[in-house]
Amino acid sequence: MMGRYRLQIQYKTPEQITLMRSAGLVVAEVLERVSAAAVPGVSTADLDRLAEEIIRSHGAIPSFLGYHGYPATLCTSVNNQVVHAIPSPSQVLREGDLISIDAGAILDGWHGDAAVTVAVGEVAPAVAALMRAAEEALWAGIAAAAEGVRSGRGRLTDISHAVEKSVRSSGRYGIVEGYGGHGIGTEMHQDPHVLNYGRPGRGPRLTPGLCLAIEPMITLGSPRTVELADGWTVVTKDGSIAAHVEHTVALTEDGAWVLTARDGGAARLGDRLSSISGAR
Ligand code: MF3
Ligand code: CO
Repeated sequence: MMGRYRLQIQYKTPEQITLMRSAGLVVAEVLERVSAAAVPGVSTADLDRLAEEIIRSHGAIPSFLGYHGYPATLCTSVNNQVVHAIPSPSQVLREGDLISIDAGAILDGWHGDAAVTVAVGEVAPAVAALMRAAEEALWAGIAAAAEGVRSGRGRLTDISHAVEKSVRSSGRYGIVEGYGGHGIGTEMHQDPHVLNYGRPGRGPRLTPGLCLAIEPMITLGSPRTVELADGWTVVTKDGSIAAHVEHTVALTEDGAWVLTARDGGAARLGDRLSSISGAR
């Protein structure tokens, strides 16, 4: 247990995971198309409009919109913004910007939640390395989850530890501490919270039916963050550039199924890819 309180984990059946896959694919399409649209001269509000159109065209609902009053479909966090930045018509992308695009959709009552960090045009080499480090850390966490469920001996913080280890092996980056991943299912945020750092071997067991959003956030400087007066936007305290990536992942007997990756994670997971996905 992660503390004094009993965690309320919603374990999913294979049929429910298959429903979550449909939601995940809507999110995957949003991120692909919005990433392609993130070019110099486009505003983050333009990206938000595109995302909402795509989600609704699938008969899905934007899950962020109205969540505790959040006013948009996407979170579009540019440069020193870490997460939860609100799209705005006055925020126009420029060559060399780095943008985290975070999207969530509800389809038939089931949630998908994912984020990518993409370069607007060409970014500085150190910024490109930051992006790669975040991506590597995400997949290290997903791989740890897949291995943990296959072995039957995995624990939640094996994921946290794998994320941290990957970040540290990539370079000197700040790992943001106040935010992390989460369980996901019929709500966007469920137990358990998934830290992006820490010792392995703690927390709930990695068992079939556990569905998690894993989301490392790292910076080129200090890990300290500040929330702006809008009540949402999280920026780095030192102004350094940040990257944030996320996937929704389902665990089964055979490994992991990356519900928000178009290939389900096949390219990165190999034989640790869940067979629910293999069957489809
Ligand atoms: N992927 C983000 C998270 O899990 C989504 C935040 S949505 C918001 O925290 F509505 F809260 F902004
Ligand atoms: Co999330």
